Amino acid sequence: MTPLIAPSLLAADFANLQQEIDVVNRSDADWLHLDVMDGRFVPNITFGMLMVEAAKRMCSKPLDVHLMIVEPEKYIESFREAGADVISVHIEACPHLHRTLQQIRATGAMAGVAVNPHTPVSLLEDVLEDLDLVCLMSVNPGFGGQKFIYRTLEKTRQLKQMITERNLSVRIEIDGGVGLQNAASILSAGADVLVAGSSVFKANDPIQAIRQLKQSRQESLLV
Ligand code: DX5
Ligand code: ZN
Repeated sequence: MTPLIAPSLLAADFANLQQEIDVVNRSDADWLHLDVMDGRFVPNITFGMLMVEAAKRMCSKPLDVHLMIVEPEKYIESFREAGADVISVHIEACPHLHRTLQQIRATGAMAGVAVNPHTPVSLLEDVLEDLDLVCLMSVNPGFGGQKFIYRTLEKTRQLKQMITERNLSVRIEIDGGVGLQNAASILSAGADVLVAGSSVFKANDPIQAIRQLKQSRQESLLV
């Protein structure tokens, strides 16, 4: 299966958002990934629903909203109204994760759970049926441009096995440090969605970078 590619706006030029999003519109990208940070769950602050709403008006692709915030349950309906198509909350920020996932699905959005590098995927055993997507963090969340944590490949394989054993269609998304150098290994481990910030927006030709990421599985099969 061809992977879905979700460029992360975090690495874009915020003084030229219209042009940057237009590049995504013209590319083979499948989703636009939006990183919402509150300075509490993560040591950085980015933007909130106003930016999601603005992105919705500029972007022709579904919006994949990654909430790196405490108490995300307070804002799920607002992000959905702003235009989020996928909403991911962090397992580490949700004491009542099962309820929060129902809340996301009730809005009509796809429900995702993001998992920090130190959190085992076995903690998802009892909510797998309630999920559309698991976002495995391959860096510690908060900043773009960090180094990929290789242990994520083993977590991806484990999670893929859990999903396959139960015959579910939960997608595995990998977020952080993803580029052409590791995309093929990530996809062979079982990933379905690649989030890519720096490797897309800092590339000389972002459209080409997206195309290459999208084709990386086929290339790995040819080798
Ligand atoms: C990190 C964010 C990522 C980030 C990835 O906290 O969740 O989505 O934008 O950026 P790169 O691809 O540069 O590692
Ligand atoms: Zn993200």
